Amino acid sequence: MLYGLLPEIIATLKQFSPDIDVNLKDISSYQQIDALKSGEIDIGFGRFAHQDPWIQQILLRHERYVVALPKSHPLANVRKQRLIDLANNRLILYHQTHLPVSSTVTIETATQANDKLSTSRVNRAATHEAASSEPITEPLLHLFAQYGISPFMTTTVSDLQVALGLVAAGEGITLVPASLQTVRTEQISYQRLVHENVTSPIYLHTLEDFVHPKIPDLLTAIYHVYEQRGITYRQQNFVSQA
Ligand code: BEZ
Repeated sequence: MLYGLLPEIIATLKQFSPDIDVNLKDISSYQQIDALKSGEIDIGFGRFAHQDPWIQQILLRHERYVVALPKSHPLANVRKQRLIDLANNRLILYHQTHLPVSSTVTIETATQANDKLSTSRVNRAATHEAASSEPITEPLLHLFAQYGISPFMTTTVSDLQVALGLVAAGEGITLVPASLQTVRTEQISYQRLVHENVTSPIYLHTLEDFVHPKIPDLLTAIYHVYEQRGITYRQQNFVSQA
């Protein structure tokens, strides 16, 4: 979230509400749920939906994915790419948290060669066949699977920075939310996809029964930034019990 609009949203919020004290914590979407319940944080931003009776979830917008390719790649200058044309490339996966099983796609005949890569070293020996009817819970594989595509060469890394590092080094391609397309632009070409529904949702999470009194100001700041930038969004109602 930090690569995108968050700095601008916080600056706008501080303009609207100069007395506000903002402290940022870098914790995963799933850890945010416990942090909200324990009172460690007041709000969380993330890209995963949570079905939890204690948590109120506000969908802010859907952000389009773009494809990140090494500049030397034959498709690097092709605008409007199709997922099917990317399927023969090594796909770099970087999500630590996978989709809940309820929102997944099952592929009966998928065969995946998965290389595991830790932050510090590549382990190309960790290749395994996964011909299965198991649901696809990895978010990028899930997107491909929605189009009936199963990339057969994948490398899994610990985070998005490492994934873009590998793309920059010519090791493969990946998909990232469009707000990432300013990262490593000397080595990486970012191109849009033809598929309009290949998107990543952005949610704001807060407690169901205690809404921080500054949340209306925060939503106003977020929508103000979207409008300034011409970003499409649908304004959501949220329940304030404060
Ligand atoms: C956004 O890109 O829409 C966004 C980023 C961070 C916080 C809230 C919204």
